[in-house]
Amino acid sequence: MTGRFISLEGGEGTGKSTQAKALATALEGRGLKVHLTREPGGTPGAEVIRELLLSGHDEKWNMRTEALLFAAARSEHCGSLIKPALERGEWVISDRFVDSSRAYQSVSGLLSDEDIMALHSVGSENLMPDRTFILDLPEEVAARRADARDRGDSDRIGGRDSDYHRSVMAKFRQYADEEPDRVKLVDASQSPEDVTANLLQNLTDLIG
Ligand code: TYD
Repeated sequence: MTGRFISLEGGEGTGKSTQAKALATALEGRGLKVHLTREPGGTPGAEVIRELLLSGHDEKWNMRTEALLFAAARSEHCGSLIKPALERGEWVISDRFVDSSRAYQSVSGLLSDEDIMALHSVGSENLMPDRTFILDLPEEVAARRADARDRGDSDRIGGRDSDYHRSVMAKFRQYADEEPDRVKLVDASQSPEDVTANLLQNLTDLIG
């Protein structure tokens, strides 16, 4: 038996963590065994890499190092948590996964999508989610929510300028266009309950 792997993606302040929790609760309510996890992080080793990645000044790492560190954290996460859970037939919900690397680490133009996927191949044998939800919000609303949460203390990547974050969101929307079976764009401006219902609706084929 193989479990199912769901990732939630989107910009800062779109409600991914809230939705990941709500979705896990709803699926557990249907009797499924669910692991709720996040990237970067999710295992002790990957959480150490998370701290390296998100703390300090933007100039601390160049874009190549940054992409390698995300791939290294993901390798740990896939190898010791996600793959074993899927092999046991359990569900995994990850707050961010490789589409975040494809979007955030390729914006500078230094690394291509092929480069990011090559790192993913080496690190994680190209494991892909069965379904990916991109939580989509108008830019001003997302920025307001992220500011309210971070109160001027955003992390190394969240603190990048609005042009950067706009380009990241454009990449996410592009993935939904390119891979409509796997990647679903979800309107995150609805009430949290309505967003969760929308996610569940888009999982009926996987729940069986
Ligand atoms: P986090 O606080 O978990 O995200 P959020 O702001 O969505 O709550 O911070 C993770 C940051 O790392 C976020 O700015 C996105 C970024 N990131 C990448 O740049 N590449 C990646 O592969 C991943 C997983 C995250």
